[in-house]
Amino acid sequence: MNKQSDLLQQLSLEEQLQEAQTKIHLLETMMIEQSRLAIMGEMIGMIAHQWRQPITIIGMITNNTILDVQLGESTQEQLLEDMDLIDKQVHYLSRTIDDFRNFFRQNKLPQSVTMRDISNELLTIFGKTFDNNHIALTFEGAMELEFTTYKNEILQVFLNLLSNSKDAVELKAIENPYVCITVATSSNFIVFEIQDNAGGIPDEIIGQIFQPYFTTKSEKNGTGLGLYMSSIIIEKHLFGTITAANKNQGTSFTITLPIKQDPKRAYVY
Ligand SMILES: Nc1ncnc2c1ncn2[C@@H]1O[C@H](COP(=O)(O)OP(=O)(O)OP(=O)(O)O)[C@@H](O)[C@H]1O
Ligand SMILES: [Mg+2]
Repeated sequence: MNKQSDLLQQLSLEEQLQEAQTKIHLLETMMIEQSRLAIMGEMIGMIAHQWRQPITIIGMITNNTILDVQLGESTQEQLLEDMDLIDKQVHYLSRTIDDFRNFFRQNKLPQSVTMRDISNELLTIFGKTFDNNHIALTFEGAMELEFTTYKNEILQVFLNLLSNSKDAVELKAIENPYVCITVATSSNFIVFEIQDNAGGIPDEIIGQIFQPYFTTKSEKNGTGLGLYMSSIIIEKHLFGTITAANKNQGTSFTITLPIKQDPKRAYVY
């Protein structure tokens, strides 16, 4: 009799545990979704940056053409040349949309990538924003080393880190700001160091930055989910580690990932 009630109690405990785990997973998924939405908002701002120049060029060409036609100075040759220029700009505009859309597509399977591939995508997405803020973005180390991972997930993490560095550089009006990403290997792991010179994170709060909703920014500028989501992606999804430290007048994030990602172990959000 006693054994049976023990067994029943154990069963119900297990059920409760399972229920709690399902709830936690659901909550994490919701937070990650919320953070994706926040990133999307930021992305729209970046698209606006990327689009400003081609739209100005198209506007200028159109105005010149109108003027030439009004003054009777337009030639067929000139018109064709101008249309060709407009066409090139339109292609550029549409490619930007594709780049950003690819970024939000989830990778169902891990793929083989190098930091060179990732850096190219980061520069496409972030290059203009960093240029406009005069932040030097450099990459060093084992750029050609192949590793297997969920590319968009790791891109999302880099995007969060770069976006934080940009915010800190702006807030503290840093002179000659930079972010340097270094790639190295250590046995079966690939190690990334992301170093900025934006003043670092006060010691009193550095222990809290990976907690959900922890932010020092106003409601409009930050939800406090960027680093939380990055740690979930790195630790729970890609089975790596992410840590932060103050170094060289800035913040240094270290990310360690297994060089080969086992698709059976990982689960995609
Ligand atoms: N590179 C950095 N330099 C200085 N402070 C940083 C840096 N990265 C993070 N922080 C600090 O850590 C806090 C948490 O960062 P996190 O990315 O999680 O949230 P957030 O940037 O405030 O908001 P969100 O990313 O959701 O828009 C930031 O508010 C900031 O105070
Ligand atoms: Mg952030």
